[in-house]
Amino acid sequence: MSNPAATINLTDIDKELSSQSPQDILRHALEAHDNIAISFSGAEDVVLIDMAHKIRPDLQVFSLDTGRLHAETYRFIEKVRSHYGIEIDVVMPEAAKVEALVKAKGLFSFYKDDHKECCGIRKIAPLRKQLLSVDAWITGQRRDQSPGTRAAVPVIQDDKAFARPNEQLTKYNPLANWTSQQVWDYIRANNVPFNELHDRGYISIGCEPCTRPTGPGQHEREGRWWWEEATKKECGLHAVNIDK
Ligand code: ADX
Ligand code: SF4
Repeated sequence: MSNPAATINLTDIDKELSSQSPQDILRHALEAHDNIAISFSGAEDVVLIDMAHKIRPDLQVFSLDTGRLHAETYRFIEKVRSHYGIEIDVVMPEAAKVEALVKAKGLFSFYKDDHKECCGIRKIAPLRKQLLSVDAWITGQRRDQSPGTRAAVPVIQDDKAFARPNEQLTKYNPLANWTSQQVWDYIRANNVPFNELHDRGYISIGCEPCTRPTGPGQHEREGRWWWEEATKKECGLHAVNIDK
């Protein structure tokens, strides 16, 4: 069981931080924890890297390489690494687990079985391992990113889903209150690198077989796992949003 006092404390801090700018939330996070990492895959995360780099250049950044990302995404990760001159931990899944899944069910089992098993092996297990080495992590989640699952995302939360036993893992979502428009305004104003797929109609980008561009009037989340219901469009990275 987690320490209830710590949970109350984070709720109080959330109340205080939720009216602050992403930069102020990041400053709080980077001052409160030495051992904190940014979880990077998309446009929002580079905005956070850009902001955090101006506060504390010795950033820890990791990216989960599922082995199924677009070639453009690999180029994007490289662009971010060289633009900011930072190290990025590119974290791979356990080869034996991937091989066993592919041998038993093929390379596209997620279209038939749903995405849980494949995401479990390619994203969640590597994330769990990565988070064992930090006290806090920072994500680019926004509330309006997924009405089915993210409408209540706080700026700071007690991440019980990935915490080490009897320890607290703090999760920060400094962009929780920002819209997509605000993210893109920041990207343009600050010359922040972005994934070239955004110029081809992609908004929310994950693995290649599970992502497609969205058309006018479609919500960005409709481009992810489009064969599944809106309330299931989470791979488990943000299990704390749905495990109440
Ligand atoms: S997902 O859970 O549906 O894949 P989404 O693409 O919306 O997540 O991204 C939300 C946040 O989760 C990102 O801002 C980032 O912090 C984190 N994230 C998602 N995918 C990855 C990844 N492959 N590597 C690292 N962090 C990721
Ligand atoms: Fe597998 Fe698709 Fe999940 Fe990527 S998003 S890990 S390909 S199910």
